[in-house]
Amino acid sequence: MKKDLLGIADLSTDEITLILDTAEAMREIGQRPIKKVPTLRGKTVVNLFFEPSTRTRTSFEIAEKRLSADTLNIAVASSSVLKGETLADTARNIEAMAPDMIVLRHASSGACHLLSRLCRSRIINAGDGMHEHPTQALLDAFTIREHKKRIEGLKIAIVGDLLHSRVLRSNILLLVRLGADVWVSGPPTMVPSGIERLGVRVSTSVDKVVADADAIMLLRIQQERLQGAFFPSLREYFTVFGMTVERVRRAKPDVIIMHPGPMNRGVEIASEVADGPYSVILEQVANGVAVRMAVLYLLAGGVEDEAAA
Ligand code: CP
Repeated sequence: MKKDLLGIADLSTDEITLILDTAEAMREIGQRPIKKVPTLRGKTVVNLFFEPSTRTRTSFEIAEKRLSADTLNIAVASSSVLKGETLADTARNIEAMAPDMIVLRHASSGACHLLSRLCRSRIINAGDGMHEHPTQALLDAFTIREHKKRIEGLKIAIVGDLLHSRVLRSNILLLVRLGADVWVSGPPTMVPSGIERLGVRVSTSVDKVVADADAIMLLRIQQERLQGAFFPSLREYFTVFGMTVERVRRAKPDVIIMHPGPMNRGVEIASEVADGPYSVILEQVANGVAVRMAVLYLLAGGVEDEAAA
């Protein structure tokens, strides 16, 4: 593994497979009565989240604790960022206290690359602006592989706000690399120009995209990032693009329904689908812990604590 995990774009196919295979082993630790191993004993991990998060922050913290790392959460709302301190100065000050890893979520694309240049600590991207969310794509691939036993040759339909989604970008990079047939759909105003060059097929017909799909992944309408009218109303969006039970029936009989969360029920997904028999949304959340344990372990060098060996 390289020093940092900044994006799927930097990972080789072998590295992706290594992370997914390591996550299989890490999941077993979470099924034990005592869910803790000494692997990262003596290592300090700082979770630095400049944007709200439920799943990513919590699962990183659980993963760190299961590996016995010393973890520290920096709440931006009570930090000196509110007094005007820059990201670079915040990072330099944290770095001065010699953490081993920094998990960063930030609203600016490229924020993790900046920290990578400034810090000796290993940097893990927990979502940077509209750029990448690599651990989300890894846990999504892990979940698909668990259900379908492969990624290659599967038809994966991704529907939603294609323009603002870092989850989409990381998933396209990963799934196309592993040989999936990726189709994307969303309002024409939310289709990034040139997205086909990433190796996906694009259609504004959601019915065409979900036809015979092995997995359907819904993307959140990111209302906090919408500046301007991308579609007439949320009700209209649901009518044209929302994942309903009727639309799910067009997919394969064993389709899985995915969503990275947080969900807007009744906007990108109907509640009957989110809570229905094909939904693996909470499995994605559970798998996030194992995948993040794998990333932490491999970035630390993939070695057991010497004293514990
Ligand atoms: N999927 C995801 O990144 O969720 P959070 O924003 O809750 O971390």
